[in-house]
Amino acid sequence: MSSRNNVVLIGFMGVGKGSVAREIVKHSDYLAIDTDDLIESMQNRRIKKIFEEDGEEYFRDLEKKVSCWLSTSVKNTLISTGGGFYKQKNLKDIGIVVLLNSPFESIIKRIKKHPNSVRKLKKRPLLNDLKKAKKLYDERSPQYLKLADIVIEVTNKSAQDCAKELLKKIKKR
Ligand code: S3P
Repeated sequence: MSSRNNVVLIGFMGVGKGSVAREIVKHSDYLAIDTDDLIESMQNRRIKKIFEEDGEEYFRDLEKKVSCWLSTSVKNTLISTGGGFYKQKNLKDIGIVVLLNSPFESIIKRIKKHPNSVRKLKKRPLLNDLKKAKKLYDERSPQYLKLADIVIEVTNKSAQDCAKELLKKIKKR
């Protein structure tokens, strides 16, 4: 277990990592960062563009760079991650791993009912084909669960309730 005191939010695309992170910031002293945002600002281009211009492998290398930096240089921070970031070998060195969990169908429903749903789907290259996305979900689900120190079931809960539950569970540790 890491002594860096970070909380690392993992989970599938669209499960609500960003929304929960924003609520945690409101209800605690945590500062939050997001691995996708770090990569976009590092590259000065959107994730979608990075995938289109340089491919997924290139993007995964950028995630690796970010994970090395997080594990050596970041403390006391809430870190929300892209859905594939869990593959980083040093994930557990970064901090307590918290999984936001929900069935695939509920995640898609959640995205579709968002006022910005078209943009939310478009900006995620791996969600373009829902059949492929479901396959990815089925592959990843057991791995997410295996890595998680804490699991928050988020289906039909508000981001605020999930954030409160998460803070309570972290305090108990
Ligand atoms: C990805 C998830 C995305 C982003 C990239 C790849 C994945 O982040 O990192 O499109 O492999 O699941 P979100 O989980 O924030 O959508």
